[in-house]
Amino acid sequence: MGLFDSHAHYDDPRFEGDLEQLVPILTTPSEKCPCGVETVVNIGCDLPSSRLCLDLADRYGLFYAAVGLHPQDAGKFDGETIPALKEMLAHPKALAIGEIGLDYKYENCSRDLQKEVFRAQLALARETGTPVCIHDRDAHGDVFDILREFSDVVTVLHSFSGSPEMAKQYVKMGFYLSFSGTVTFKNAAVVPEAAKVVPKDRLLLETDAPYLAPVPYRGKRNRSDYAYATAAKLAELHGVSPEEMVAVTRENARRFFRLEP
Ligand code: NI
Repeated sequence: MGLFDSHAHYDDPRFEGDLEQLVPILTTPSEKCPCGVETVVNIGCDLPSSRLCLDLADRYGLFYAAVGLHPQDAGKFDGETIPALKEMLAHPKALAIGEIGLDYKYENCSRDLQKEVFRAQLALARETGTPVCIHDRDAHGDVFDILREFSDVVTVLHSFSGSPEMAKQYVKMGFYLSFSGTVTFKNAAVVPEAAKVVPKDRLLLETDAPYLAPVPYRGKRNRSDYAYATAAKLAELHGVSPEEMVAVTRENARRFFRLEP
C-alpha cells in the first residue's frame, strides 16, 4: 500500500528526458519514501495535455488521468471542447475532470470567460457523474460561489491555499481538500492552519509535480516520492504517524476517484 499522489503533471516537458528511468525509482520503497509510490493522477491543462495524460496512463500502470481546460487556457474553449472531453472521459483510466477553476493571478483570459468555461465543465461533471479537481489562484470568493451552485459534484480543491474558515465551509459541503508542498513552506503559515482543520477523512496528498516541491526539496523539480515529506507534515499537524497519513490519504483518494478499495 503505497503513496497516492492525487495531482501531478508528468506530461510536463521537464520529465521528457528521464521519465522511463524515473518511474521505477518512484515505485520502489526508498529512504525518501519508505512505502514507495503506488498511484499518480496526471492532470490535464488543455486538450493536448489531457491526451498526453491518457497516453501516459496507457504506458505506465501507476498513472491515471484527469482531463480538462485550465482557467489560463480558457481562451482555447470552443464548441469542440466539451464533446472532446466527454470522449476522453470514456477512457478506462480517465478518473476526473481537471484541472478547472479560476486564476486571477495572470488573467490572460477575462474573468467572465474563465467563469463560463468553469461552469461548462462543472455541468459536464454533473451530467457524467465525474469528480472534479479545482484550481483556485487568487480567486477564492468567486470559486466558492460557483462551486456552491454545483455542490452535488464530487470535488477536490487542489493545493488548497484558502483560509481555515473557507476550508471548514468546503468540508461542510462534502468536498475534499488536497495539500501539496506548500504546507511545508515556512512563509505560508495559513496553509498548515487550514490543513489542521480538515478532518483526516477529507485530506488528499499531492505533488503538483514538477511544481511546489516540499521542504527539504524546495526549488527542485518535484516528483511523487517527495510527497512523503508533505505527508509527514500533515501527519504532524494531525498527530499521527507519516505511515498512517499515507494510508489515510490513499484510502481517501481511492474513494474520491472511485477506484476499487
Ligand atoms: Ni496542477
